[in-house]
Amino acid sequence: MTAPVADIPRAVALLRAGELVAFPTETVYGLGADAGNPGAIARIFAAKGRPADHPLIVHLPDASHLERWAVDIPEAARKLAAAFWPGPLTLILKRHASVQDAITGGQDTVGLRVPNHPLALQLLREFGGANGGGLAAPSANRFGHVSPTTAAHVREELGDAVAMILDGGPCAVGIESTILDLSSGEPRILRPGMLDADAIGAVLGRPPAFGGEQNAPRVSGSLEAHYAPRTPLRLVAAADLATAARQALEAGQRIAVLASEPPVSGDSNMIWSAAGTDATRFAHDLYARLREFDALDCDLILVAAPPDAEAWRAVADRLRRAAAGSK
Ligand code: TXA
Ligand code: MG
Repeated sequence: MTAPVADIPRAVALLRAGELVAFPTETVYGLGADAGNPGAIARIFAAKGRPADHPLIVHLPDASHLERWAVDIPEAARKLAAAFWPGPLTLILKRHASVQDAITGGQDTVGLRVPNHPLALQLLREFGGANGGGLAAPSANRFGHVSPTTAAHVREELGDAVAMILDGGPCAVGIESTILDLSSGEPRILRPGMLDADAIGAVLGRPPAFGGEQNAPRVSGSLEAHYAPRTPLRLVAAADLATAARQALEAGQRIAVLASEPPVSGDSNMIWSAAGTDATRFAHDLYARLREFDALDCDLILVAAPPDAEAWRAVADRLRRAAAGSK
């Protein structure tokens, strides 16, 4: 069912008919539906098993479509769009009155992004280029689970719930976009991503704030338990990793270890994956490795906590939620 590039016209026809089409982006694969069709949007929630009040990101072919979806667009949004779109940045703006409630979760804001993948852009142009249409697309996984970074992962996650999967190869970034709230004065990162606060701050002229306040918009990616493999995952300080691994092995467990360094000694009950010391590489591989570990039927995944540095913030965030979600 994985489709060759030439099937964009079929993908567009399916989307116009209210069907779901999964497509690649530079971050993770998205589960796409016509953002103007409430029936199609309902299908997304059913396929993912996602609670209906969680808002969806609308994907656009380029920033010239912003006015169709948002109002009171601040200058900062235009600057950031010019600097980073297409790219792994989602902007939360005040919604246009015409945006479906099912997209916004009933809030007065909408999440918008132009993804940087040639297939996604071709699909978005052919679907919405002329009439300003957009594609609602959450990550193409079951709710709470690890996001898919290949077409095969999408098939594993969603099976026949999706009418078509466009195969664009493995995603370049590997974890979800940075979400920046520009709807209420101070720019605020609601979900860290590989486009980091330093890059955003350089364009804004001041560093963005972090985290949601009490009445900030809901972000399902901000739930404590999210992005989780099926196998229990434990984060341990790098210095304690060898001890934690030995204790688990002595307790008779089969373990998978994700660390920057190769193992000191081997064990037939231990699968050790050396992830390297580069945050970009680590993010790129992370979800695929968690899926590989799940397939090995281990008792425990041990992950060495990443360095406390801005470049690692998004990876650390996903690992923390994976640990919370897999208990
Ligand atoms: O990289 C990505 O952003 C991927 C690709 C497919 O574009 N999409 C993605 O979508 O991660 P999803 O639905 O899995 O996560 C989007 C997050 C959700 O946590 C949702 O709550 C939040 O964006 N979101 C969407 N609209 C929002 C809004 N108006 N206010 C606050 N958060 C919003
Ligand atoms: Mg998601």
